[in-house]
Amino acid sequence: MKKILVTGGLGYIGSHTVVELQTAGFEVIIIDNLSNASVKVLDGIESITGIRPEFEELDLRDKQATISFFQKHQNIAGIIHFAASKAVGESVENPLLYYENNISTLVTVLQQIQHQENIAFIFSSSCTVYGQAEKMPISENAPIQQAFSPYGNTKQIGEEILQDTAKIAKGLQVISLRYFNPIGAHASVAIGELPDGVPQNLVPFITQTAIGLRKQLAVFGNDYPTEDGTCIRDYIHVVDLAKAHVIALKRLLNEQHETSFEVFNIGTGTGSSVLEVIESFERVSQQKLNYKIVDRREGDVISAYADTTKANTILGWKATSTLDEAMLSAWQWEQKIRKTK
Ligand code: UFG
Repeated sequence: MKKILVTGGLGYIGSHTVVELQTAGFEVIIIDNLSNASVKVLDGIESITGIRPEFEELDLRDKQATISFFQKHQNIAGIIHFAASKAVGESVENPLLYYENNISTLVTVLQQIQHQENIAFIFSSSCTVYGQAEKMPISENAPIQQAFSPYGNTKQIGEEILQDTAKIAKGLQVISLRYFNPIGAHASVAIGELPDGVPQNLVPFITQTAIGLRKQLAVFGNDYPTEDGTCIRDYIHVVDLAKAHVIALKRLLNEQHETSFEVFNIGTGTGSSVLEVIESFERVSQQKLNYKIVDRREGDVISAYADTTKANTILGWKATSTLDEAMLSAWQWEQKIRKTK
């Protein structure tokens, strides 16, 4: 059984990926600094798979502790690197936190593994690297645009660091997955998204409004050049996204990759407007949502949805859940966590 290190493995996408890794027969070790996650997530994972993953509380900014960790664990075949900060607004307020958390830590990890004979590395990247792309759907060949935020910049720089390092580190093989908008929760509702404070993202804001935690959803602008005037995104079920990591990892471990640094878009290929997401929520929850249209939010691109041809044909991966299924799981998760709080 191959051992896979999942950094940030107690977070939203990390925890769903751990479940899929265990289901596929991998042994998992998680490190997480618990800055935006709870150890209770381990119970959720165990309740789904029957296996409690090994866990060490570790902050990758602690270089000495990170060195000791890698000295102790020499049998790691692959790393899925989620550990990072992810709030766009916060990154504008505190850029150095983002450069330290997302860049310095990546460098530290790579320093520990660069001389390893064989190591697979999956990087959490983002469609934010494309900015407002000229053509929809967005393919991996679309030009990388000047980042809108320090957060977005860390994803671009992270990819460059990995590409440069994979050129000289013979054992290092990298796949960067450019996520579109992950939503939803595991069907068991044992794990899901746990936003800290007021959610910045659309779907947790919708479910928190519906449950009564927020008064009203603000829809940021309906004067965009789209069919209904609201922004378009590609919302992907987090379990579909998690599965893409396992497939990408296997591609590297089975040496099926073509180059030592590959990039794939991970989305559904379908764009949905903010109003369509609200309609989907209202359909699956059978209730009306309290929302109002307000001004545009600074920094939002008009439209972003994926051309998934490369992931479909080369990885052999395809998203299977519909928007309604993803929204229903997000709603079921919201209802469950409010009941147990
Ligand atoms: N929106 C609202 N009201 C809200 C929250 C969001 O109308 O309260 C709208 C936004 O304006 C946008 C859409 O819903 O049109 C989606 O917004 P999210 O904040 O959920 O997602 P983003 O597409 O802005 O951000 C996501 C990730 C980022 C990543 C970015 C790349 O959260 O990490 O995609 O495009 F950088």
